[in-house]
Amino acid sequence: GEMAGVNEEPGWGRMSEPEEILDAAEEALILDPPWRGLRVLVTSGPTRESLDPIRFLSNRSSGKMGDALARQAHLLGAEVFLVRGVGSQNPPPRGPKVFTVESAQEMGKVVKELFPASHILIMAAAVSDWQSAHFSPQKMKRTSSELTLQLLPNEDILLWAGKHKTHQIVVGFAVETENHLENARLKLESKGADIILLKDPTQAHSTFGGETIQLTILTKEGTITKLPKMSKFHAAKRISEEITSRLKGKVLPSHAPADEVSPR
Ligand code: CTP
Repeated sequence: GEMAGVNEEPGWGRMSEPEEILDAAEEALILDPPWRGLRVLVTSGPTRESLDPIRFLSNRSSGKMGDALARQAHLLGAEVFLVRGVGSQNPPPRGPKVFTVESAQEMGKVVKELFPASHILIMAAAVSDWQSAHFSPQKMKRTSSELTLQLLPNEDILLWAGKHKTHQIVVGFAVETENHLENARLKLESKGADIILLKDPTQAHSTFGGETIQLTILTKEGTITKLPKMSKFHAAKRISEEITSRLKGKVLPSHAPADEVSPR
């Protein structure tokens, strides 16, 4: 980077940030990345539904799990598209091409554009299930009377992907606070996913924004694997191993036409 000169002209030679060096070392240490040639589409973070220019509806997602998955896919050698809710907590991971979106509708639009050319979709985003029926172009003024918000359902992006998949491996999450396995299994079947990752955010080790997570992996073949509590980085590794095992013997198109797509 650039250095500020005191008496002389400024010049180049500033050390990179330690995080950047660590990231680069991590990348250099993977010698034969197993996902080379694959295109992976990951969504992460919360979506926002505007009520007026100031206010929005959203949720507690931090985006950390989706970001970890996107980073892991990059480390495995894939070309990664990360469609990321603008409210995500951390800076985006190094490597993936990042598309920052606000609403569920915007996220859906980008996913639909990129999905046909992808080999793997991981829907880690906490997509808002509703949008406001009315957007007020001016700030809604405070009154002393009650306010009722009318909400309209958003499209289910994972369900769309499950219906339109041709060769893709489709992975989704199930965020459940009760009837965990039953609800997760229902989501796996109804949304046409290959894998569903069940998480209960009311558990102390899996809270939104936390560094750790406890997941249960459900597959469409009916297997259920309860993972121990681990860091989101390690969970991403474990999930990628599950996906890698599904890739074995699967014939995937080698040149999907996504080259013209550029990050926004
Ligand atoms: N999802 C999606 N589009 C939506 C809502 C959810 O693609 N409009 C995806 C999420 O990214 C996740 C999966 O569907 O991978 C399950 O999300 P979850 O919030 O657990 O469940 P919902 O489908 O929203 O159902 P419910 O709120 O009734 O549990």
